[in-house]
Amino acid sequence: MFSDLSAYAIGFEKLSLFLLGVGVFFSSLIFILMIVFCLRYRRKGEERGGGPTENLRLEILWGTVPFLIMILIFVWGARLYMQLFQAEDHQQNVSVLAKRWMWKFYYPGGKEEVNRLYVPAGETTQLMMISQDVIHSFFVPDLRMKKDVLPGRYIRLNLHPLKPGNYPIRCAEYCGTDHSQMGARLIVLPPKKFEEWLKSSAQPAEEMISGRGRRLFEKHQCASCHREGDTHLGPDLHGIFGKEISLEGGKKVVVDEDYLRTSILAPEAQIHQGYPSAMPPYQGQFTEEELLSLIKYLKEGDHD
Ligand code: CUA
Repeated sequence: MFSDLSAYAIGFEKLSLFLLGVGVFFSSLIFILMIVFCLRYRRKGEERGGGPTENLRLEILWGTVPFLIMILIFVWGARLYMQLFQAEDHQQNVSVLAKRWMWKFYYPGGKEEVNRLYVPAGETTQLMMISQDVIHSFFVPDLRMKKDVLPGRYIRLNLHPLKPGNYPIRCAEYCGTDHSQMGARLIVLPPKKFEEWLKSSAQPAEEMISGRGRRLFEKHQCASCHREGDTHLGPDLHGIFGKEISLEGGKKVVVDEDYLRTSILAPEAQIHQGYPSAMPPYQGQFTEEELLSLIKYLKEGDHD
C-alpha cells in the first residue's frame, strides 16, 4: 500500500493497483500457459502439422478485451488528471513565487511565507505558481505531486492533503548552483489551526502584498485611465476580477490572474470591447512579485 496523505494520491493509488492487477494477471496467464504447453507437448518426433490456422472468435476476443481494458485505463487516468489540474472547487488560494533559490507563498488576506507552505487538512488548496527566473519544479514527494513552475505564466496545482503533518517540498528541475538547497516545508494543519494561523500576526495593511499593489497602482497612475466616470480610456477595474468580459472581435473571457497579467504586460493582446488600444505595454517594468501584488490588489483590494 501507498499512503493516504492526499485525496488525489488515493485516486492514483487505486489506478496503480488496478494496473498492477492487470499486469500480474496477464503475466501469470502467459507463464502458466507456457509451462503447461511445454509439459503437454514435450515429446519429440511428433507430427505437428494440420492444426487450425485461424479462429475468428479467438482473434476478436484477444483484440477486444485488451482494447476495452486500455480504454478503461485511459478514461480513468484522464479523469484523475482533470481532477488534479482543473478542479475549481478549491477552498484556498495560494500564490507561489519560485526564484533562485527559494519558494515564496502569498495567502489571501496578505500573509506571506518564505519556504513554508501552510495548508489545511481535508480541503483543496489551489496553488498558482510562477517563476521569476528559470524553470523550477514544485515537488512534494509524500503527496506524489510534481509540477513544473515556468517563467511567464501561471501554473495551477491543487493540493488535497488529508493528514496533518510536516512534509518536504523539493525543487525537481535543475536550476543552478543551489538547486539542491531549494527546499521548503509543507505544513498541513487541522482546519481550525489553519484558520488561527491565517489570522495570527497579520501585518499592517500597507505592508501586505495588496497594499504594495495599491502603491504601485498609484505610482503608475493607473487610475488616471481606469476609473469610473465618462471620460475613461480604460475599463473601471473595481470588482472586475472574476467577471466575464467581451474582447474586441467578440471573444468572451473571464478576468482572472492570467488575463490581468497579460493586460498589464501586453495590453494590445486582449482589448476590452469598447475601449481604445491606448495602454502602453509594461513588459519588463515589473518584477513577478510586483505583478502578483498588483493582481492581488485588483482582486482583493478596495480600489475606489
Ligand atoms: Cu529551483 Cu531547482
